[in-house]
Parts: sequence; structure tokens; C-alpha cells
Amino acid sequence: MGFGKKNQLVGVDIGSFAIKIVEIEQTKKGRSLKNFGRIGLPRNAIREGDIVEQKVVVKALRTLFKNLKISNRNVSVALSGYPVMAKRITLPDSGRAQIEATIQDQAEQYIPFDINDVNLDFDILEGEKTLSEDEDANEGKSLEVMLVAAKKDVINAYVDLLAAADLSPGVLDVDVFALQNAAELSNADEEDGYAIVNVGAEELGINTVVNGTSLFSRDSSFGGTQVTDLIMSHFDVDFERAEEIKLGEGKEEAWGQKLETGVSGVISDWTQEIKRALDFVETTYPDKTIGIIFVCGGSCRVRGFQEYLASQTDLPVVELNPFSTLSSNKNLFDEEYLKQMAPQACVAVGLALRSIDDK
Ligand SMILES: Nc1ncnc2c1ncn2[C@@H]1O[C@H](COP(=O)(O)OP(=O)(O)OP(=O)(O)O)[C@@H](O)[C@H]1O
Ligand SMILES: [Mg+2]
Repeated sequence: MGFGKKNQLVGVDIGSFAIKIVEIEQTKKGRSLKNFGRIGLPRNAIREGDIVEQKVVVKALRTLFKNLKISNRNVSVALSGYPVMAKRITLPDSGRAQIEATIQDQAEQYIPFDINDVNLDFDILEGEKTLSEDEDANEGKSLEVMLVAAKKDVINAYVDLLAAADLSPGVLDVDVFALQNAAELSNADEEDGYAIVNVGAEELGINTVVNGTSLFSRDSSFGGTQVTDLIMSHFDVDFERAEEIKLGEGKEEAWGQKLETGVSGVISDWTQEIKRALDFVETTYPDKTIGIIFVCGGSCRVRGFQEYLASQTDLPVVELNPFSTLSSNKNLFDEEYLKQMAPQACVAVGLALRSIDDK
């Protein structure tokens, strides 16, 4: 999905909890981190991928660009949640021209929206390319195609938002694919497939990738805000205070058995959701193997989650650090800060890499 690609793009991840920005520079010595920053958003300014309070988000974007002194206005952003759907489908290999002509009709059965309300894009997946322009030669063959559908009104809302912040959209991506991009950096040698699980504040995104292509991806309405809500009602505090307690800044507050049980329930729900996706992949693609789970998003650090996920799936669970493969100037970036922020920065790094990959 694109608006025409520009060379250097700033990766802008507009999350419901915080906007994250990453700039990457391609130097002779490799990729280097040029800029990273984040700014929090008030609750409900963005809800399930919808921009609810445009003015608030525009102000945050302007502030962040100003504070980080970023002059490049060309950005890549991503959609996530219900307004966007990516699905791997199998089509008869009728040649590219024919697929282009009929994709609209073919897609209708797979997408949960009115076909007239979405922008469609498709990609013939690498490694499965049997495509020929000669229809007869393709008789009986099939193609694996990644179908992406995004709601037009939500795309327009993002375009308007960026325009209002004096930014220009170079690439419009999808969260789960930006993550795949970031994961590829740190997992280039892995032969088995992997899953990437992004637990943000309000969304839990899953992508499963084998041989560089996505088999199945999905976003669900789970996230760290569920834990914040439990803390709010347990201690009778507001959202901000509950966030502080969650991050351990209220160490004096003992969580107590009731709250611990509540949080365990949330972690268990996340794990069930992830297991459902892994089971689906195992059943649908019996010849493909997922060997490791990468986790990211701020809420992958909710106490006990990673251990529980590993115990329930029998797979290694590893936190993704998208900064680990980028060099960075120690005088500009505090190493501890980058380590702390690494899981939250994955989508933004994936987005910033877009321009470099697509050159
Ligand atoms: N160390 C930590 N332990 C537990 N939770 C954390 C930690 N650090 C951050 N979080 C939580 O992570 C969430 C923010 O993560 P992230 O920036 O990935 O979300 P987002 O991208 O804004 O949200 P979404 O993608 O769901 O719209 C918040 O709920 C925050 O409380
Ligand atoms: Mg996010």
C-alpha cells in the first residue's frame, strides 16, 4: 500500500498509549540510529486504530518532531486493529493481469467490510512465484497471495492527521508487517519460522512468519490497559497513578492476592489468544514450523507474561530489541534508556527501515 515512496522516511508509530518516532541512517558502516523519541497520548485520543481526537494527536506529533529537531517531513506510518486486515489466500494462477482484474471480486468473500469501503492491495508471495502471463501454462497451478484491505475512511483520517501536522505520508504500512521488518533484522539466520507478538496498551498483534512470508496475522483488543484498569479499581486511583504503580514506581503499594489473580487472568487470556493463532497455523500449514516467539510492545514486560507464555507453548520466548542491530552514538543515546524502550520501539524501527529496504 503506498502513496509513492520517498527515500528517507521517518518511522512514526502512532500507538494508543504513545507515539514513537525512529530515524535510521544508512552509513558506510551499516545502519545507525539517528533519532528516537516518544510522547504519551491521553487515554482515548486513539481508540482501536481510530483517531478520536485529531487535535490532540497533531499537537503531540508537532511537539515530538520539534523536540527531536527532525526536519525530514516524509514519514511512514502504519494502520492496525479492526480497520485493516491482512490475509494469506490461495488463488488459481491465472496470470498477474487476470489477478489484478479480478482481485476485487475474489477478495469480497475474505474481508469483513463492504468492498467499496476499502482500499485493496495484494502481493504475490516470494518463494511461491509460479506466475506466468500465459494462462494455459498455469493450468491447475495455484498462487499464494497476501491480500491487504484497509478501510478508506480510516486511511483518509490518517492522511488528514499527517497533513495537519505538516507531515507527508511516504509509506502506509500495517503494524504486523512493520514488526516483521524489524524482526527480520535480528532473526536473519533463523531457519525455523517465528511468531511476533506485540502487546501494546489496547491491542495485541500476532504475526507468524516462515521463510520470510507471513502465514497468519491478527490484532485483538487485548493489552496493558487491562492491567491498568485492574490497578485503578483495586487502589481506587486514576489512570496516571495506576500506570505508575504498574511500572513499579509505587513499590510501597503491595499488590495483594486479589490483584495478582486478576493480572494472572489477563496474562492467561493473552496466552490463549496467542495459542489459538499458533494452533491455527499448525493445522493449516502442517509442513511449516514455528520455533520461537518474539515478544514486543510495552506490555510484553507485564510481570510473569513471558514465563507463562513459554510454559504454555513450549517455545522459547525472546524479547525483541530492534536497537541491537543498529549502531548508536553513546553520547546521544543513553544505553539504559534504549534498553528500557526497546520493546516499544519495534514498530517504529520497522517503519523507519521501510525507506531503506525499498530504495
Ligand atoms: N515495564 C513495563 N511493565 C509493564 N507494562 C509496561 C512496561 N512498560 C510499558 N508498559 C505498558 O505498555 C503499554 C505501552 O506500550 P506501547 O507503546 O507498545 O503501546 P502502544 O503502541 O501505544 O499501544 P497500542 O499499540 O496498543 O495502541 C502501556 O500500557 C504501558 O503501561
Ligand atoms: Mg503499538
